[in-house]
Amino acid sequence: TISSLVKLIDVGPRDGLQNEKSPVPAEVKIELVHRLQAAGLQEIEVTSYVSPKWVPQMADNHVVMSGIQRKAGVRYSVLTPNLKGFEAALLDQPDEIVVFGSASEAFSQKNINCSIAESIERFAPVVEAALAAGIAVRGAMSCTVGCPYEGEIAPERVAYLAGLLKGIGVQRVDVADTIGVGTPRKVQRAIEATLTHYAIDEVSGHFHDTYGQALANTLAALELGVWNFQSSVAGLGGCPYAKGATGNVATEDVVYLLHGMGIETGIDLDKLIDAGVFISDFLGRKPNSRAATALINK
Ligand code: HMG
Ligand code: MG
Repeated sequence: TISSLVKLIDVGPRDGLQNEKSPVPAEVKIELVHRLQAAGLQEIEVTSYVSPKWVPQMADNHVVMSGIQRKAGVRYSVLTPNLKGFEAALLDQPDEIVVFGSASEAFSQKNINCSIAESIERFAPVVEAALAAGIAVRGAMSCTVGCPYEGEIAPERVAYLAGLLKGIGVQRVDVADTIGVGTPRKVQRAIEATLTHYAIDEVSGHFHDTYGQALANTLAALELGVWNFQSSVAGLGGCPYAKGATGNVATEDVVYLLHGMGIETGIDLDKLIDAGVFISDFLGRKPNSRAATALINK
């Protein structure tokens, strides 16, 4: 049955901005986070503690994390690929850290420069240290439907990765269609594979809209009982190691879908649209959201 309540994690400040070519100043990122929390977002993926040589846009992680005026009840998460990243993140006291693995071997190599098995070895001490420090742990699973290098990814490989993450103590996982090639039934197969290791409350959907399938995939995930989703304000995004992948599904569009179905999110769509306009103005483009465009022009 479809949940009457959905939790959205806005990944715009991280997944959304990581691929922007020109540096976005820390104060703009901080203002974006403030606007998202003012719009009612209860989970925000703020930044990543990765190599600045690999992802220069996230080099200001400390300035951004320490500059946020935190709002009670909001969970602030950050990506940490290894202990070095985790140790830096720890100083900024995130509520949750995210280790990020891939269902595709080739994508694992391109994205984090190691095999899936090696990535698990690197994540294990990070997970242990985070849990010991009272920090929640999420695992992002990239390429759960398709990979830019390997093509289609079988559900068995998603189940395999989910099992490895479960084995090292990762508490919940994202089923990500990194390059947005998924269609509803394929996405359901990837989620079902994940459910062999994780409970429905521990699984979130993370869809990119490259082929315009993200809302259909969201509905397909809702039908399975998934009630946690990641999306990006103004449809920001694109992965530096997934050429041709467009942004995450726009949070505005997901909110419009959910509210239209009578599902609660706690989000004020008008304020969310303002947040999307704010960052899009800065980037010199229009929000990549159909709902925002329609409501702005009304
Ligand atoms: P590596 O080169 O194998 O790492 O990279 P290394 O341990 O050999 O270290 C090399 C250099 O990086 C050293 O510096 C380290 O100190 C430094 P040097 O001696 O050359 O000056 N280093 C670090 N610096 C800062 N923070 C760190 C860190 N670790 C090492 N944590 C590494 C391995 C994982 C570091 C690298 O591949 C990397 O940073 N990758 C980041 C990739 C990334 O952020 N991708 C985008 C996010 S994932 C994604 O988009 C998918 C997702 O959004 C879901 C979806 O949309 O589908 C999650
Ligand atoms: Mg993404």
